[in-house]
Amino acid sequence: MKNFSIIAAADQKLGIGINNRLPWNLKADLKHFSTITIGNKNNAVIMGLNTWKSLPEKFRPLKERLNVVLSKEKLLDLPAEVLNFQSLDEALNALERKNVDNVFIIGGAMLYAAAITHPSCQTIYLTEIEGVFKCDTFFPAIPSEFKKIETGELNEENGIKFRFCVYQK
Ligand SMILES: NC(=O)c1ccc[n+]([C@@H]2O[C@H](COP(=O)([O-])OP(=O)(O)OC[C@H]3O[C@@H](n4cnc5c(N)ncnc54)[C@H](OP(=O)(O)O)[C@@H]3O)[C@@H](O)[C@H]2O)c1
Repeated sequence: MKNFSIIAAADQKLGIGINNRLPWNLKADLKHFSTITIGNKNNAVIMGLNTWKSLPEKFRPLKERLNVVLSKEKLLDLPAEVLNFQSLDEALNALERKNVDNVFIIGGAMLYAAAITHPSCQTIYLTEIEGVFKCDTFFPAIPSEFKKIETGELNEENGIKFRFCVYQK
């Protein structure tokens, strides 16, 4: 089965979302997200249906990446180039047969929870945001087999401080 990475941004209490949107507006983090997930333009991103719906229409499908949406809904109205699977394993098996280089799980909370304990999850790219925001969705606790291998320098935007960090199994 295809190995994959998780990419997320979370506050000090692992908050990641509110009312099906992001709790903050950090251009540098969106740029970081694009750079990592686009890579050499042969990568795939897997997201839950709520995260797909949360993307502004003009930005979806996310450009230069194969977009995969997980949902058990039967009558999904997705663009033809977007793949839809009912489970993470089904998506990973299908992506192994395609010629994609790297696979990224891009949220939300429900999918992160399934992905982080999956044996094929190797790396977590986590933007660690200082402070506590009003959130209704949370990133799961990071299992102890993941070690922090990179702590980025302190960035600041709109008075919000954050670092780009990497955890690996
Ligand atoms: N800070 C960040 O990095 C970040 C990143 C992404 C999203 N977010 C935020 O997270 C929030 C959304 O999270 P969420 O937990 O509500 O939604 P989500 O995980 O995006 O979507 C949930 C839906 O996706 C499907 N799904 C998820 N995991 C699945 C799995 N393992 N197998 C099969 N289907 C699966 C199910 O669809 P069906 O019910 O149709 O079967 C489920 O109801 C928003 O606020 C968003 O802005 C934050």
